[in-house]
Amino acid sequence: MEIHQAVFVASSTRVADKPKELHPEFAFIGRSNVGKSSLINCLCNKKSLARTSSTPGKTQCVNHFLVDGKWYIVDLPGYGFAKLSKKMRENIEGMIKDYILNSQELVLLFVLLDSRHKLLKNDLEFLTMLGEEGVPFSIIFTKSDKVGKNILVSRVESNKKELLNYWEELPPVFVTSSHTGKGREELLEYIGNTLTTIN
Ligand code: GTP
Ligand code: MG
Repeated sequence: MEIHQAVFVASSTRVADKPKELHPEFAFIGRSNVGKSSLINCLCNKKSLARTSSTPGKTQCVNHFLVDGKWYIVDLPGYGFAKLSKKMRENIEGMIKDYILNSQELVLLFVLLDSRHKLLKNDLEFLTMLGEEGVPFSIIFTKSDKVGKNILVSRVESNKKELLNYWEELPPVFVTSSHTGKGREELLEYIGNTLTTIN
């Protein structure tokens, strides 16, 4: 599948305020600064569709982008940004949960993990919550251009092994780089196939 047109539609802080025109939604979540907005731009081949920043905490609302008039990409704020005040962090976490648990159109949530690092406690807690709530998700290891090939393979494998301590089997796992485009085609193919199965 290829994306021909992607347009920003709206930012919301409550699921009740998301765009009224309903379409299937594929959302991107993960720790702050993991590369959600950059990956969305890479998928859409548009440099500044979603706002990115080298400082964590850039995306602070739920942003809907309409793709080819048929489905939405949803850019979510990151979780676990330690520098925010407790109140702000709670607000953002509430916004994320409200969207994830209440958006009827959410088809799949992509959980982004940095391929350079071990899973952190907040990643595992978040994934556990998804399991408990029955939210369908896939995993994406981001920023794969930042590590050498061998380290990348061993890091991804050890993180998958760690996840298998909690799950009997893993959902589809992708390895991407928004800088080189690695994993882009596979991800678009997967979204395309998922859209076909729900139509
Ligand atoms: P928040 O909105 O703050 O939660 O962050 P985010 O997850 O949307 O991250 P964002 O896309 O803004 O990227 C954070 C930083 O990582 C930026 O400086 C990006 O340029 C950089 N970055 C994102 N993806 C990649 C990647 O694949 N490779 C490299 N080398 N850098 C990346
Ligand atoms: Mg962002």
